[in-house]
Amino acid sequence: MTETILSLKQISKSYQMGEEEQAVLKSINLEIKKGEFLAVLGPSGSGKSTLMNIIGLLDEPTSGHYFLAGNQVDHLSEKELAAIRNKEIGFVFQQFQLLQKLTALQNTELPLIYSGIPAKARKKRAIEMLERVGLKDKMLNRPHQLSGGQQQRVAIARALVTEPSILLADEPTGALDQKTGQQIIKLFQELHGEGKTIVMITHDLEVAANGSRIIRILDGEIDEVNKHDD
Ligand SMILES: Nc1ncnc2c1ncn2[C@@H]1O[C@H](COP(=O)(O)OP(=O)(O)OP(=O)(O)O)[C@@H](O)[C@H]1O
Ligand SMILES: [Mg+2]
Repeated sequence: MTETILSLKQISKSYQMGEEEQAVLKSINLEIKKGEFLAVLGPSGSGKSTLMNIIGLLDEPTSGHYFLAGNQVDHLSEKELAAIRNKEIGFVFQQFQLLQKLTALQNTELPLIYSGIPAKARKKRAIEMLERVGLKDKMLNRPHQLSGGQQQRVAIARALVTEPSILLADEPTGALDQKTGQQIIKLFQELHGEGKTIVMITHDLEVAANGSRIIRILDGEIDEVNKHDD
């Protein structure tokens, strides 16, 4: 039996827009097992990033319950959320979100500083992660001295350096050309093969097809669940 790493129960999110309440997520039920590579597909405005922000503890649902790695994480304080976020979640974004003044190595080390890991161990782990994503030889480069695909590799190394339970990626190939995007997807597939749990958001069916499971969000609801064997 595979362990459930994440479970959303009747998660809803709405925004008050003047008089009207806009429902962005409508009673989402979702279970993610350890080691899954889940692709979340859906058109622009369907609620994908809202869902990712809730999964990543960057945003709170309006109602519903959320269990992550054995913790109930709805209704926690900011401080508690930040601690769980740092431990359990690694983020990868469309625009990489690296700090421009820091080298690839310093960017990769950053989450470990927040975790309070000593400097020497930090550096060692960051170098190992950069090696894993094929960028050890560029570790002293700053982001502007790297290609888009290389910057995304640094972002992936940074996301994984804390050994999070889940890697969350929001349109990770969205800013890359097709060939570079495929290389990033290949890296995700390798990480999936090594047992990492990955949630990847995309509006591109071809990209989503690389997941071990695909769900589709339409207008704030999970419209279709397409499972195939892992
Ligand atoms: N802070 C907010 N206040 C009000 N409405 C919001 C807020 N954030 C998101 N929304 C609305 O929620 C809906 C879903 O947005 P979301 O960013 O989750 O879509 P998405 O599926 O990620 O789209 P895209 O593919 O374009 O990134 C949109 O209609 C958006 O306008
Ligand atoms: Mg989005």
